[in-house]
Amino acid sequence: MTTDTLALPAALGGTPAFPDGLPLTRVRVPDRRALLERLATVLDSGQLTNGPTVAELELRAAELLDVPHVVAVSNCTAGLMLVLQAAGVGGGRPVVMPGFTFSATAHAAHWAGGTPVFAEAREQDVTLDPEDAAARLAAADRPAALMATHVYGTPCQVERLQEVADEAGVPLVYDAAHGLGSRRRGVPVGGFGLAEVFSMSPTKVAVAGEGGLVATRDAALAERLRTARDYGNPGDYDTLFPGLNARMSELHAAVGLNWLAELPERVAHRGALATDFARRVAGLPGLRPALPEAGDVSTFKDLTLIVDEEVFGLGAPELGRALGAEGIDSRRYFHPPVQRQRAYAHLGQAHALPRTDRLAGSVLTLPLWSHMDERVVGRIADAVLRIHPYAHRLRAAGV
Ligand SMILES: Cc1ncc(COP(=O)(O)O)c(C=O)c1O
Repeated sequence: MTTDTLALPAALGGTPAFPDGLPLTRVRVPDRRALLERLATVLDSGQLTNGPTVAELELRAAELLDVPHVVAVSNCTAGLMLVLQAAGVGGGRPVVMPGFTFSATAHAAHWAGGTPVFAEAREQDVTLDPEDAAARLAAADRPAALMATHVYGTPCQVERLQEVADEAGVPLVYDAAHGLGSRRRGVPVGGFGLAEVFSMSPTKVAVAGEGGLVATRDAALAERLRTARDYGNPGDYDTLFPGLNARMSELHAAVGLNWLAELPERVAHRGALATDFARRVAGLPGLRPALPEAGDVSTFKDLTLIVDEEVFGLGAPELGRALGAEGIDSRRYFHPPVQRQRAYAHLGQAHALPRTDRLAGSVLTLPLWSHMDERVVGRIADAVLRIHPYAHRLRAAGV
């Protein structure tokens, strides 16, 4: 079959795969009636914060994650800040973390008084490279902590990262914003390191509107976080340390509980969609989805392609524009990587991360949502397959 006999990509005048457009995410509220009842109960109680709904969410999440303590907070960023503060980060001391993550990982360390030191991503799955992290911890002056991110919900190399943190004598804190429902070798993400902090913001698989959950096995840390999220107030207004208002409201907890009830089904469906997509595009040269290790479970908070421009014939931004012409929305998670962002430019050349730069330049995140029909995934894959043979023509046309 020659390219002329194939349907033209929309960017070259063909019919768009999704004429009405396909957004990156689509939020569907689970069990609306149950949610409205829960919200009515909260409103009727007159107690909109510091109430039983947050406590119920914490309990339910602790069961799901198989950890003894969960502390609900207003968002993941604030949760990370409070965990890092509790772990002794401060005084500008180095906090080693991936460059390939969302900016909030680094911002949390900054607000806790630390200085980000960025380390490389693994080629396979773009999570933190434990060996590079070890080297940067060894080179750092009195490092205060190691942070790692379960990128897209892909579990990190938790066993090796714990060894690396232990060897350096620093606490390991996970940015688990994407990982609510992920599993590493059968074990739920949530119980690794000193603490794992989840996000329940609207782009996540379990949503509270805005919200975060800190999971930990450390009872003293959990107790401190309950004080820390309430200005550092132990209950008598004689604050123990400078805390935050990082409480989750009862209304948000009601929404979160509703979503949590459907989490296992949602994660299973997303996994099946991602697996199907990977199978459909498996024959394409120079293109691979970022997948978890065999035996691990990812939430697939994002379905992200890694595009090798030389081999595929188009770079990630070009493929994104060609898909845009098909009506398919996309993002570049995470580009630019955090060490390249203006907020951290002053940290300079010590933060050169060639592998992370290359990977960040190669990523393209495609639409995926929890109730997406399998046929939609098939049509997205078909659009990618249709574009590939026209890579040279698309480039020549300046897509
Ligand atoms: C990896 C990562 N960390 C942290 C956050 C921040 O989460 P939140 O909005 O709940 O503060 C996000 C948000 O998307 C994220 O992607």
